[in-house]
Amino acid sequence: MEKQKVVISEHLERALNEAIAECRADRIFVLSDTTTARLCWPIVEGFDCLKGAERIVIEAGDTHKTLEAVGHVWSELQQQGATRHSLLVNLGGGMVTDLGGFAASTFKRGISLINIPTTLLSMVDASVGGKTGFNFGGLKNEIGVFRNASSVILDTVFLKTMDQENILSGYAEMLKHGCINPEEKMLNGLLAFDVEQPDLTQLKHMVAESVEVKQRIVLEDPTEQGIRKALNLGHTVGHAFESLAMKRQPVLHGYAVAWGLVCELYLSVLKTGFPTEKMCKVVNFIIEHYGRMPITCNDYPTLLELMTHDKKNIAGRINFTLLGNVGDIRINQTATKEEIEEALDFYREGQ
Ligand code: GLY
Repeated sequence: MEKQKVVISEHLERALNEAIAECRADRIFVLSDTTTARLCWPIVEGFDCLKGAERIVIEAGDTHKTLEAVGHVWSELQQQGATRHSLLVNLGGGMVTDLGGFAASTFKRGISLINIPTTLLSMVDASVGGKTGFNFGGLKNEIGVFRNASSVILDTVFLKTMDQENILSGYAEMLKHGCINPEEKMLNGLLAFDVEQPDLTQLKHMVAESVEVKQRIVLEDPTEQGIRKALNLGHTVGHAFESLAMKRQPVLHGYAVAWGLVCELYLSVLKTGFPTEKMCKVVNFIIEHYGRMPITCNDYPTLLELMTHDKKNIAGRINFTLLGNVGDIRINQTATKEEIEEALDFYREGQ
């Protein structure tokens, strides 16, 4: 896959106009979910370049990231006369860009696609890197293909539509990018930033830096055979937290990733020599801003069981991405049950 074109927009209408012109599409369709239809469509609906565009709306929320919703998008495209030269513009968070990306990649063997991510999480992660798909058979993102959008347009104007919890959720992926980037200045900048009252101009530069880190890795390994696994830092334990929370009080993805980072940086200290004082700086930031999801040692067997079934595992071994230092990535690491429990103890009681 070629490097994806990511535009850090200074002027949304101009950026979208240029991206659409490059696609030379006969018809334009805009996909949103019920939330972005309400909050984000009004920001773009007056644009000349979207005059005559057809709209497709799906239900918001991960529970609607289904084959049925994909079928709805295909049906709408078909009934409204989309051809193989048509364009789908995804306006939304990760659910919309993943699902819409899949629908566009498969409709008539693939039509053009533009992503306009509207959440911080989708700006710095989901909309970039070509992963598309939907949930199936009770498993997240079980069906999908790799396909880059023609353009991804990042505009922080949409962040004004987001609440603080969702900003923090996206920020966790930015912290992850800071940890895997060798330029330590980036991580220090993220830890010093006032994320509770974010300055959007500064945040825009930080988003650009974060996307650059992801793109560099994706370009090297688009289909996750090796180094792209660096992007899984925090996610082995994070996904287990997220699944456990699903049975109790669901949490936003980025919160689970932040808590996963606490455990996996601890494992990095234990197993791959990550400096303790750097771990403490990141962990302090996370506990201060994200708090802790309450767990007890009675939850350890469930968490371990969830990690054992993680789709990133190889030959039944729980697979971690750990760090030897900031930016010193060690993929395909594993840990014993005792080491993982020690990391969970640290999460509950450390700092
Ligand atoms: N979200 C991790 C990746 O795109 O590989």
